Amino acid sequence: MPGMPIIVVRTEQGFNAFYNTCSHRGGCLVTEKQGTCPGKRLVCGYHAWVYDFEGKLIGVPDQRDFAGLDKSQRGLQRVRCEAWGGWIFINGDPDAEPLADYVRRLQPQMAQFDLDNLSLIDRYSYDCACNWKILMDAFAENYHFVSVHRGTVGLPGPKCAVEHRGTVMALYENGHSRNILPWNDGFEPRESASEETGFSMGMGGIADIESVGPIPREFITAFTCFPNLTTPVYANGFPLLLFWPTGLNTCRMDVVWMGLPHGEAELPEAWKEKIKAFNVILDEDLTFLPSVQISAESPAFRSVVVNYQERRIYHAHEQIDRVIGPERIPEHLRVTPVLAGMIE
Ligand code: FES
Ligand SMILES: [Fe+2]
Repeated sequence: MPGMPIIVVRTEQGFNAFYNTCSHRGGCLVTEKQGTCPGKRLVCGYHAWVYDFEGKLIGVPDQRDFAGLDKSQRGLQRVRCEAWGGWIFINGDPDAEPLADYVRRLQPQMAQFDLDNLSLIDRYSYDCACNWKILMDAFAENYHFVSVHRGTVGLPGPKCAVEHRGTVMALYENGHSRNILPWNDGFEPRESASEETGFSMGMGGIADIESVGPIPREFITAFTCFPNLTTPVYANGFPLLLFWPTGLNTCRMDVVWMGLPHGEAELPEAWKEKIKAFNVILDEDLTFLPSVQISAESPAFRSVVVNYQERRIYHAHEQIDRVIGPERIPEHLRVTPVLAGMIE
């Protein structure tokens, strides 16, 4: 959840994560977004209790005034923290399966992007006036392209950039999925703008990641890592789209661009163009989707029906029910499990 107070520290062995909550009276240990800690010590800003990078309480000013204080019982509370490529995943569930097992169907396919050597290119966020699932669902299907993205990539017909009906989807265990969307015949995203709309994907001028295989080079490929991460991957870099609930009817989307290090102080022009073009498409979704939230709150909204092109949505919602536990969900709100035989 956004705002959950977590500290991640780098150690000789890797990383440790803790709640940013002092065991004395809940003071904050760290207030900066990032930085270095002299002597690898975390010092609470309130009364200066000191912890090491393993979370052990190692210093208490005026300790004699705490009768019977057992420092070994007053360490920081750990949070699960595992790395994948250069990313750190925090998990509030101490009993969750290891990350590497959880993403075992995605990991080999993402490995072609040379994850260990990518850099952060850009990051920004949007606050959205809709439930996070309304936003997430829109990034799990291409059926809306011909209407919501009509002004850019979705105009139907031979001059449209993409052929949404040609999409190939794979459903994976744990609610993950993959989407492979073909460009329309003759559309060369690196060079051309859509003839009808004049929209260009802005994909030229950035070197490809050499190890990327043929599928992301030839098709618009996207992966969803359940529950809240989707990434449309391009051969020269990609945005991670992260959907965070901030309330029942609001959410935040973080957009985190990854690519090969460009070695310049400023973002190169080609990257600016690519990100700008992508944001035009994002804006089309973000402008439209709050109206779905308003409509979903109306008494007329009873249920949804999804088609074959929207099966990644159904797949994710089946998994949401499994995670919550169907017995905790009112019967009329449950998603009937039907896709088990389709999991690859
Ligand atoms: S709350 Fe942290 S030292 Fe008192
Ligand atoms: Fe969209």
